[in-house]
This record gives sequence, structure tokens and C-alpha cells, in this order.
Amino acid sequence: MSEAEELRRVAEGLRAMPKQIDSKYFYDQRGSELFDEITTLPEYYPTRTERALLERWAEPLVRRLRPASVLELGAGSARKTRVLLSALERVAPDATYIPLDVSAAFLGETARELRAEFPDLRVTPIAGDFTEGIELREPLPRPALFALFGSTIGNFGHERAASILRHAVEHMEEDDHLLLGADLRPGPSKSKAELEAAYNDSHGVTARFNLNVLTVLNERFGTDFHVPAFEHVAFYDEAEDRIEMHLRATSSTSVTMPGAGSVTFAAGETVRTEISCKYDRATVEEIFACAGLTVDDWFDADGRYALALGRPAE
Ligand code: TRP
Repeated sequence: MSEAEELRRVAEGLRAMPKQIDSKYFYDQRGSELFDEITTLPEYYPTRTERALLERWAEPLVRRLRPASVLELGAGSARKTRVLLSALERVAPDATYIPLDVSAAFLGETARELRAEFPDLRVTPIAGDFTEGIELREPLPRPALFALFGSTIGNFGHERAASILRHAVEHMEEDDHLLLGADLRPGPSKSKAELEAAYNDSHGVTARFNLNVLTVLNERFGTDFHVPAFEHVAFYDEAEDRIEMHLRATSSTSVTMPGAGSVTFAAGETVRTEISCKYDRATVEEIFACAGLTVDDWFDADGRYALALGRPAE
């Protein structure tokens, strides 16, 4: 897509009802750093809860599945993957790890580090956007284990989530599996307040992360968002079972987009920048079914966060 075409889409999102910005624009260098910081915040429980689940279940899981390859979608810095890889190293030291990520620079660095840490493991990164499809460069060693961590799936609506999982299913054979990290809806062990606090941290990191998207757009497309005119808003929508992140104009403000006109925000008007869907077992089963998967196993941390293991449906 050309820059002009991309800006045209951004403009379209800002003219939509309600206004929206595609969350892919969060992740420039600064955005990725802020996001990494979010994952270490005391209020942001998903990262450490998922890591604890992996620490408990990764080894029994790889002993059972004996994967010859692990393909991770959206690997990033592969921080929690290390828990899975060290279990893999004990069970199948010569397995292949295939991290997939949009950022080639990030991948190269991750691969170098992992090779040093796990000398027997083959590390063969692939740069690409798994939300658009998965292109492999060589046949997958079988059985293969696909992984998608961090409740990344939640940043897509259910239909899109199913189509993204289907990209993985297209490459799966009978004995392959997919391990999905999914954040769960509020319940007895997780209040709505706790969930909302994860996206409204007291240090304001999530706010800076959210606001940074406007700077990214200004730098990339020459738009003139007046960043101080906006504030961070995140809330749980119980009807939709999802966190919504917005930027709210605190006073009336407008933005000019070179070659794409301008858009005005009334005071109090918001633009949605992210969704984070929350699940229960039934919704994961539904999405899996749409993607051609069945739930083979389910590991949850007291109903707060889950790892769902899927396999291709018959
Ligand atoms: N997928 C994770 C989540 O929804 C991480 C994430 C994506 C996130 N965008 C975010 C976390 C914005 C905080 C703010 O929780």
C-alpha cells in the first residue's frame, strides 16, 4: 500500500462513526518500548499470569506433544517464549523454533540471543504479518506447535480472530497443535475494577502508549494532531466483553491531513485506538470452531487468564 493510500485509510477511520485509529500504528520504536514497559507494570497482570501458566504447564505439555518445531506468531522479543523453549530444550533439544514477526530488526536480535541461550535449538525467523497470512520458507518439522501469546488475539474482533487462526490451521496437520494465550472476562477471581486498572495504570505508561499513536501519525504522515488536547480513556464494555481504549479530546480540536482534508473533534469526543476482547471457554471454543480447531486442553490461572490448546478439527 502506498503512503497516500494508507493516509487515505487513516482519514477514513477518523471520519467513521465512531472515530477509529488502526492499532498497528502504536508500534514505532517508542511505542514498542512503552508496550514492553506496560508488560512489567504491577497492574498489568496478563503477562505475569501467562508466564506463570507456562512455567507450570510448558514442560508437561512438550513431553506430551513432543513438538519438532514451535512456530510463534508475533514473537517480538520472545521473552515468555523462553519458558517454553527451555522446556523444549530438555525434551527435544534439536527442535526448530520459528519466530514470526513484522519487525525484521527485532527478529534478528531475538534470534541471535536465543541461539546463544539455546545452542542446540535451530532458530529460523520469518519476517511477516501473520494477521495477513503465513508464508513458510521450508516444510515444518512435525509435529509442530503453533503459539500465539499475550492475548494478542483479543486485539481483534471474533471474526477477524478466527480468520487469523485459520492462517495457522492452513499449515497444520493431524498431530499439530496450537497454544493460545487468552485473557478472561471478569469473574469471582477478577473484578471489573482490576481488569480496568490493567489498562489505566497509576504510572500513566498506558496513557503515554496510547497518546504516542498521535505522534506516530504526525511523524509518518505529516498530520498535525495537537497531542496535549487529548487524554487516555480505557474502560470495560460488558455487553461486548472487551476493554476499549480511546483518546478523548479535552477541548475542541482539529487535525489536518496532507492531501486528505481535515477532521474536527468536539470537546469530549473520542477516537477508539484499541480493543482487547476478554473470553471464557465457550467463546474460545466458538472462535476455534470457526477457525477449524477443537479445544484439546485448557489451562487457566484461577479463571483469570487461560492457555487454550487446540488441534485441527476432524
Ligand atoms: N494483547 C494485549 C492486551 O490486549 C496487549 C496489548 C495490546 C495492550 N495493545 C495494548 C495492552 C494496549 C495495553 C494497552 O492486553
